[in-house]
Amino acid sequence: MTDHHSTAPTGAPTTDDDPSAAPTGALRTDDDPSPAPTTVDDAAASGPVPEASAPHGPDQTDRVILRTAAEEAAASGPGAVLVVDDATGELTAAALAEVGTVGEATSAVPGTPVISWTASHAATLALRARFSEEVTEGRLEVPGGDHPASLAEIAAETRPRLALMRLPKALADLEHRAVEIARAGDVTLVAGGRVKHMTRTQNVVLGGVFTEVHASRGLGKSRALVATAAREDLAPLPIARGTAHLPVRGTASALELRAIGGVFGGATADAGSLLLLEALDRHLLTREEAEAAPLARAIDLGSGNGLLTAYLAAALPETPVLGSDDDADAVASTRATLDAYGLDRESTDVTWDDSLFRVADRSADLVLLNPPFHDGTAVDATLVQGLLDAVARVLRPGGELWFVHNSSLRYRTEVERRIGPVRQRARDRRFTVLSAERT
Ligand SMILES: C[S@@+](CC[C@H](N)C(=O)[O-])C[C@H]1O[C@@H](n2cnc3c(N)ncnc32)[C@H](O)[C@@H]1O
Repeated sequence: MTDHHSTAPTGAPTTDDDPSAAPTGALRTDDDPSPAPTTVDDAAASGPVPEASAPHGPDQTDRVILRTAAEEAAASGPGAVLVVDDATGELTAAALAEVGTVGEATSAVPGTPVISWTASHAATLALRARFSEEVTEGRLEVPGGDHPASLAEIAAETRPRLALMRLPKALADLEHRAVEIARAGDVTLVAGGRVKHMTRTQNVVLGGVFTEVHASRGLGKSRALVATAAREDLAPLPIARGTAHLPVRGTASALELRAIGGVFGGATADAGSLLLLEALDRHLLTREEAEAAPLARAIDLGSGNGLLTAYLAAALPETPVLGSDDDADAVASTRATLDAYGLDRESTDVTWDDSLFRVADRSADLVLLNPPFHDGTAVDATLVQGLLDAVARVLRPGGELWFVHNSSLRYRTEVERRIGPVRQRARDRRFTVLSAERT
């Protein structure tokens, strides 16, 4: 999953909160004579790689997950294997290849020994493209569709005996994934990562969901946590709650926010988005005073916790509003925010989509965008380009993009080139808000 304005979402502490700690258990590093990893593990951990058609082979973390899974499979007996958030597709490929070893011992669902669920719509499509043969043969299921089934639903439905994933960076994400996977009942979770990113807090989080948690043997600089025996008194899926204070049509308002999993910002309003909304609210009041025609359609691209979508739904009651995100957790969070605020009206839609792929060309008058700027810890300007191209495609001529970015970055030329003439609408030390009119 990509990061955004800051290196860690608010309210979602990263696993780097305790860098000195190591997972519990008899842990040893470099105790395995296996060859050195062939790929860069940190890059694989940092975000979805839609081009899953360019396989690199499992890296060291994938291999420690698979080795541990094979050991656990021998003990846990037959059952399907659930792969979670496999950004590169390598874990899925390796799990499929291991069918002769892991699968023979584990597969109890005829024809579907591996289920690969990922929160990213783009990554889901990439997995389907890369493994189309295995999907057709019924050896692999890649859940998807317009309305993504949650991991909890998939786990409860397919009842895997083994679940494999890389440890997410955010603890909120780890807790959420663990609770969802535990819905499978009798399941063993094997979650791997780089030792330098692992902390005792991860054991504690997993220990809140499973009664037994231990660490695997290390493989180079990677190892896995193994969690078994889901607690019977499992709490409902954690949903974070918060409130955003902002003007809606000139009136100070409190807007309920909800956050599921590791969604950007948790249930806290992003400061950049608030700066954008204050400027936009003034602009919409001016439009109203000038008796401008209602906007035909307004879109929040990358809706996250739903702050901008909820604002649009509240401020533009006559305008159909779309919130759209590539991340299934963000889609669920946006829906929950709209519900909490009573804004889930008929003309408000929320979609799981990559870069508004399903939105018709030239169909929107207004698009709001608070895009991701970081992939892992590195600033990656290219993340924005595809989103700006999507905005250029869906805006009608004369329609406007409202865009917020870190003041330290320069996007004016990029936005102007892709959309049209740019105006600066607000700026503070941290954020700059631009609007651009589609030519
Ligand atoms: C910086 S967050 C902003 C979230 C929210 N709009 C806010 O203001 O708090 C960016 C969002 O864009 C989403 N995103 C990233 N790439 C995307 C893509 N290609 N298509 C749709 N959404 C995307 C991320 O999942 C994330 O939720």
